[in-house]
Amino acid sequence: MSADLLARAQDILSRAGTEGVRGKVVVIKVGGASIADETVLAHLAEDLVVLKLMGTKPVVVHGGGPDITARMKAAGLPVEFVRGLRVTSEEAIRIVREVLVDTNNRALVEAINAHGDHAVGLSGDRDNLVRAKVLDPALGRVGDVTGVDADALARILGEGRIPVIACLGTGEDGGSLNINADLVAAELARAIRGEIVLFLTDVDGLYRNFPNKDSIIAELPVEEAERLLASGALGAGMAPKIDACVRVIRAGAERARIVNAKRAGALLSEFEPSAITGTRVVAKATGELKISTEKGAN
Ligand SMILES: Nc1ncnc2c1ncn2[C@@H]1O[C@H](COP(=O)(O)OP(=O)(O)O)[C@@H](O)[C@H]1O
Ligand SMILES: [Mg+2]
Repeated sequence: MSADLLARAQDILSRAGTEGVRGKVVVIKVGGASIADETVLAHLAEDLVVLKLMGTKPVVVHGGGPDITARMKAAGLPVEFVRGLRVTSEEAIRIVREVLVDTNNRALVEAINAHGDHAVGLSGDRDNLVRAKVLDPALGRVGDVTGVDADALARILGEGRIPVIACLGTGEDGGSLNINADLVAAELARAIRGEIVLFLTDVDGLYRNFPNKDSIIAELPVEEAERLLASGALGAGMAPKIDACVRVIRAGAERARIVNAKRAGALLSEFEPSAITGTRVVAKATGELKISTEKGAN
C-alpha cells in the first residue's frame, strides 16, 4: 500500500516539481463530517500520507460536528448553536472532549497509520498546546485561542510526523474549552507559519447564494472577505472559515482555500492541477477564475 502512495507522491512531484513543495508546512482543517464518513476518511488518510511523502509537513486540525450532536442528543442535552458556535455546558464539554479525542482523533490517526507510523494524535487541551480563554460566558465552555505551543509542533514536524490535533484548548481555569476547529487551524497556522492552509468541508466552497450551485466563489480577495464578514451576511458554518482564511492570509500565508473533502483528490489538488477549485482567499485578486463552473458533488 505504502509503495502505491509513494508512487503517487513521485508522480505528482514529477509534474509539480519539488520546488514550492518540499518542506512546506501545510495546515489542513478537517470537518467532523469527513471523519464520520468512512469513504471520505479513507481517501483523506491516503492523501495525507501522499502529501507527507511528497516532502511537505502536514499538520491536521479536526472538529467533531455531527458525532458530537448525536452524542449530546443521546445524553438528553440541548443542542444549540449561536453564530455557528456550539453552546457548551459543563456536561457538554465532557461529551465534546470524549467524541473529539476518543472517537474522532483516534479514527483519523488510525486511518493514517494504516499506511505506516505517520501520525501522532494530540488534543489542544493537553500540555498547553492550545491556550484559550472563554469567548463569551453566554456560550459556556467555548474558547478563543490566546496562545499556541509552536515549539511542541515544530518538534513533531522535525521528527517527520503528522500532528493530528483535536480542537480543544486549556482555559484560564485549567479546564477544557471547546474551540471552533477553523479558528484553531488558523491560529496554529499563524503560530507555526503555515504556508498553505486548506479547509476541508462538506460543500464545494463559499456560495454567494447558498445553495445555488452556480454561485460558488472561486477567488475571494481578502478585503472582500473582510467586508463579507463585517456585513454579517455569511452563513453560520462559513463565517468562522472565511475569518480563518483572512487571519492566515493577513499573517502572510501563501494560500488559503476551502475545498470539498468529498471530492476525490481534494487534498492534493493544491499541488495537482485538477478541476477542483473550491474557494481561494487571496491577498490580491488575480483576475482568473472568478466563477467556477464545476458541478456540485452534494
Ligand atoms: N454561503 C455559504 N456557502 C457555503 N456553505 C454555507 C454557506 N452558508 C452556510 N453554509 C453552510 O456551512 C456548512 C459548512 O460549515 P460547517 O457545517 O461548520 O462544517 P465544517 O465541519 O466543515 O466546519 C455547509 O455545510 C453549509 O451548510
Ligand atoms: Mg464548522
